[in-house]
Amino acid sequence: MATSSLTVHQRAARSLVVSKYVMAISGILMIGFLIAHMLGNLHIFGGREEFNHYAEGLREFGMPILPYGGLLWIMRPVLVIAVVAHIWSAVRLTRRDRAARGSGKRYQSTQHRRGVQRTYASFTMRWGGVTIALFVIYHLLQFTLLPKLALNPATDGVFPGSSNPDPYERTVTGFMVWWVVLIYTVAILALGMHLRHGVYSAIATLGLIKRPIGRTRALAGAAAFALLLCLGFLIPPFAVLFGVVSL
Ligand code: HEM
Repeated sequence: MATSSLTVHQRAARSLVVSKYVMAISGILMIGFLIAHMLGNLHIFGGREEFNHYAEGLREFGMPILPYGGLLWIMRPVLVIAVVAHIWSAVRLTRRDRAARGSGKRYQSTQHRRGVQRTYASFTMRWGGVTIALFVIYHLLQFTLLPKLALNPATDGVFPGSSNPDPYERTVTGFMVWWVVLIYTVAILALGMHLRHGVYSAIATLGLIKRPIGRTRALAGAAAFALLLCLGFLIPPFAVLFGVVSL
């Protein structure tokens, strides 16, 4: 009896650790993509030719060893697997969290003060994650899928710029509309909050707290990283909205 209950506990602990590692590693993969994407977007300040040259360069990368668009087709399944793994581990951890809640405590974390942080973090992570997922669907339709599939002015009403065949014009036309900038701002702020907590949690999961990184430094580093990434993503849409970048 004692042995079997120990086994159950051991199994539960191992599955918790596996879920946390899956979440951290898939998160780190997506962060790598986000850093590259944010830096790539800044090419918009170089003007139409530079931005389009960059977009084309992504497709020609590695040729002739890779086919045209090869880099993107390697990246896409990796990102899809990372997203699915991230959501899978989030669901597992949430279920386990709910099952263990009897004591009224949501996270067994040393991070919180007075328990307020826990509710805030779980709320931000869950609803922030949903907001980001909805945003990615909108964003892909606007800048990747509709331009490829349709190039039909009818889609411009809901997805401004999507019918424009030129990547630079598509992006600039999209951000000339205030509510598109608002959608992006809300999503990127949600992403920033998600990253601030997520990066700190990943540092903790990977055992980097205490040595070599202290808790305060880990929290500050995660916040600084999230802020920089948010700013990098938000600058192009606002630059277009205020006419710094134009057609
Ligand atoms: C202001 C911020 C952003 C701008 C201006 C922007 C712009 C773009 C553009 C122009 C493309 C099409 C790239 C191409 O086909 O050459 C694209 C693709 C994409 N973006 Fe963004 N993006 C922004 C933020 C984000 C964020 C925050 C995420 C994720 C949370 C994201 C995820 C993606 C993904 C997954 C693709 C598809 C890549 C592919 O499979 O081709 N983007 N973005």
